[in-house]
Parts: sequence; C-alpha cells; structure tokens
Amino acid sequence: MFLSEQARIASMQLPPEIRPHQSVPLLQALHILTRDGKLNQDSRRKLKQVYHLVNFIEPLLNDVLSAESNPVLVDHGAGKSYLGFILYDLLLKQLSVGHVIGIETRADLVEKSQALAQACAFERMAFQHLSVAESMVADTIPKKVDIVTALHACNTATDDAIQFGITKQAQYMVLVPCCQAEVAEVMRLHKAESLSSTSLSELWRHPIHTREFGSHVTNVLRCLQLEAHGYQVTVTELVGWEHSMKNELIIAKWINQPKRSAQQRRTEILQAFNLESLSSRFS
Ligand SMILES: C[S@@+](CC[C@H](N)C(=O)[O-])C[C@H]1O[C@@H](n2cnc3c(N)ncnc32)[C@H](O)[C@@H]1O
Repeated sequence: MFLSEQARIASMQLPPEIRPHQSVPLLQALHILTRDGKLNQDSRRKLKQVYHLVNFIEPLLNDVLSAESNPVLVDHGAGKSYLGFILYDLLLKQLSVGHVIGIETRADLVEKSQALAQACAFERMAFQHLSVAESMVADTIPKKVDIVTALHACNTATDDAIQFGITKQAQYMVLVPCCQAEVAEVMRLHKAESLSSTSLSELWRHPIHTREFGSHVTNVLRCLQLEAHGYQVTVTELVGWEHSMKNELIIAKWINQPKRSAQQRRTEILQAFNLESLSSRFS
C-alpha cells in the first residue's frame, strides 16, 4: 500500500463497529467498508452476522490453541470467505500460528480470495479449488484438522463436511446447514406407502411440509451421526442471521464418547421414514 493511502486510511473516522487493528483495506476489498470507510445498512448487517459467528468460534479456537501448537481450520463452501478473512484478521493475524483453509468449487472465488490473502499478507491462509468430497482425499489438505466450519454449504455439502470432520478427527465442527433436498426427495418417493401405513406421515404429506420436515429430519440425523462418532452436540439459533431462513447452528465438540443409543436411534429413524437408502450418508 502507498504511504499516501495509509495516511488517508489513518485519517478516516471509522464506524464504532470496526475494531482496533482491524484491516481497513481488507474490509474495503470485501465491500464491507466503502472507500471512505463507511458502512452501509447491508454491510453493517453482514458484519454483525460474521462477528456473531466469530464470537462462537473464538473460545473453540482458544481451546484448540491451548492443546495444539499450530491448529488448522478448514472452511467448507467458503464463498467470498467473509468468515475466514474476518476470523484470521481478528484472531490469528497477531499470532504466529494457526492456518485457515477455504474450500470452494467456484474457481473465480478461489482466485479472488487467494489474491486478497496475498495482498493482506495473510500468509497462513490458503484457498483450494475443490469440492468438500474431493478435499477429504486431497493430499494438499493436512491429515488432521482441528476445526471445521461450513456455513450454508449447499445441499449435501454439509454432510460431506461432517464426513470430512470425522475423517480428519476435528476437535470442533461449526455448521450452519443450507437446505438439503435429498432426504425430502426420498420421503416424497415413499409418500404413498407411508400414508397407508402411519398417521405420522401427515407430518410431511403436503409438499411444503415434505421440504421443511425433510430438512429437519436431515439435521436430526446429522446430530445423531455426530453423537454416534463421539461428539457432543449443541443445536442453537444463529441469531442475527436475518437474511436467511436457514439459521440453525450445530456445534459439535469431540469428547471421544461414541453414543451407541444415537447409532440405534439413527437406524430407527431411517427405517421409520423409509430412508434406509441414505444410511451411508449419515453413518
Ligand atoms: C451459499 S454460499 C455460502 C458462502 C459462505 N460460506 C457464506 O456463508 O457466506 C455456498 C458456497 O458453497 C459452494 N459450494 C457448494 N457446494 C460445494 C461443494 N460440494 N464443495 C465446495 N463448495 C461448495 C458454492 O459455490 C458457494 O460459494
């Protein structure tokens, strides 16, 4: 950055939301701050949402940092990487350890994020043009990952992120699922059969209910899957995420206590809703 530009930024009256030592050029590049250092209504909301999530992740990162000398966080379906960048800027920039890897299938977004990380000298931040499923077996990803995040990763990408976390022995997973159509589709296929055998099928008889109930069942199966693999699961609402209907926040902490009852209930739910064909998805 030229000196004159640095002086211009230093002379700006920044909004109170901007924290000391936060990178103004980064926030400008993410179109959160205008060139004059202002926040508009939309970007103020976006920043509030990302801060909210960073607040959830900060104690998890501190916990991991107390045990792991150089932790790795992988963000799946990174998109424009608002979360990864702001997380790095606020929590990791001043440390000499900790890596953030963004996984994204859109090559243009990967290129832009790589260029921005370089421009900000965020040396421990990288982006890879891979699907979540590909990243599971890619030799460019460390064998062990400490924290997995997936925010509105489309459809079954959240399920792949869970598999990724289990395979990479992640200590924490922070998931805000997007709509998942796969379960609802299988429920739809078996609807006539369910209607003739159980009055509970009224819960998903109407198409809009099939979609919503399918989405709910998906998240329930995800939680049971995580518990069956030794995670403690907290499900809460991502308050402040007003722009999206999908604001369920699933936080999983590995406590090494696989729950046999969760495994059993997962199997029973798959049977009750004629979802056995999806058994491997939630195993
Ligand atoms: C709704 S955006 C969310 C972006 C970002 N996480 C956020 O919350 O602002 C979902 C992103 O996931 C990417 N994506 C979808 N399926 C994916 C997959 N299987 N593997 C990796 N990325 C995926 C899309 O290209 C898109 O950028």
